[in-house]
Amino acid sequence: MFHINDHFLKLPGSYLFAEIARRIREYQAAHPDADLIRLGIGDVTQPLVPAVIDAMHEAVDEMGKRETFRGYGPDFGYDFLVNAIREWDYEKRGISLAYDEVFVSDGAKCDVGNIQELFSDDAVIAVTDPVYPVYVDSNAMAGRAGNYKGDRWDRLVYLPCNAENGFVPALPEQKVDVLYLCYPNNPTGTVLTKEQLKVFVDWARENQALIIYDAAYRAYITTEGIPASIYEVEGAREVAIECNSFSKTAGFTGTRCAYTVIPHEVRGLSSTGEKVELNALWKRRMATKFNGVSYPVQRGAAAVYTEEGQKQIREVIAGYMENARIIREGLEARGFTVFGGKDAPYIWMKVPSGMDSWAFFDKLLDEAHVVGTPGAGFGPSGEGYFRLTAFNTREKTLEAVSRFERLKL
Ligand code: MLT
Repeated sequence: MFHINDHFLKLPGSYLFAEIARRIREYQAAHPDADLIRLGIGDVTQPLVPAVIDAMHEAVDEMGKRETFRGYGPDFGYDFLVNAIREWDYEKRGISLAYDEVFVSDGAKCDVGNIQELFSDDAVIAVTDPVYPVYVDSNAMAGRAGNYKGDRWDRLVYLPCNAENGFVPALPEQKVDVLYLCYPNNPTGTVLTKEQLKVFVDWARENQALIIYDAAYRAYITTEGIPASIYEVEGAREVAIECNSFSKTAGFTGTRCAYTVIPHEVRGLSSTGEKVELNALWKRRMATKFNGVSYPVQRGAAAVYTEEGQKQIREVIAGYMENARIIREGLEARGFTVFGGKDAPYIWMKVPSGMDSWAFFDKLLDEAHVVGTPGAGFGPSGEGYFRLTAFNTREKTLEAVSRFERLKL
């Protein structure tokens, strides 16, 4: 009989958000009248903005006419989108990217999950802890995380982020090849200043390590001076890949469009000692395994980069950030300790003492009919914390916060 990839068997339980969905289904089946408010998975609730919808309608019409119909698109994205990304997300910030350093894809989750195919089997991976589980699970599936023991993988390097260190990870103490960073951070909702980020870029340059920088939440930065791209830090082009997404920026969670930047300077060693550009490897991978994002979706994404599109998405983002404020201030007023939510759509709260984060998940679900995400699901240092998202509607957010009164603490 054929053999399977045993590394999958080492994964503990299901993917975090699948497990939460399962628990909600079970609860809802047992309590059909419970009016649940979902502040769990970071999924947007506001519709696509008019500029995006108009561009997509037009593109669909083009697909229906022989003269403008398009088959396979370019492997790495249409010119109009790649150039709009370069101009609006980078040139406007003083960052110059070559045309072939941008790769349009169907999701930052897919990109951060797939990128590990470019690393050697024995690469040492470091993650901040708590962390978006995709970085960990995708490396675990490839065997790079070792074995899961207790609450952690024995080959992964964890960099704890907690209230005690102000959610700023320390540099790895051992040799690390690849470090995943996500800022604004999922799940803690915290950010790094440019000086704090520079420490990691300098470390990567000194140690010939790679940083995978997930910037999916950068549209939520409100504090002046917080870097929206790792390339704002000098030298980052040599050591960093950056992933971004239209999901949280423009409500594309169900529409699917994202991109990854791989500067030509980023190189890794082959087993024969040759320095190889990751950009070339990713091109080869994408051309082999991906057929691009559909034309109407790319047209919709490009419409984000117009004056009208920017104005419209800014309004939606401001609405979500108002929800974040409602949660932050509402919970603080009720005596909870909260973090994040100022430059990110996530609020990271301390669970009441004496309770673990899954117990608090059950309690909040049962007593308040509010769904959140237990911190332990994001890694060992997430224990004792709980994540709420600002992505629901204003009405439901207000209602959810008021329902915290129902908790019997
Ligand atoms: C989250 O809730 O952490 C995000 O929705 C996950 C994702 O974007 O894949």
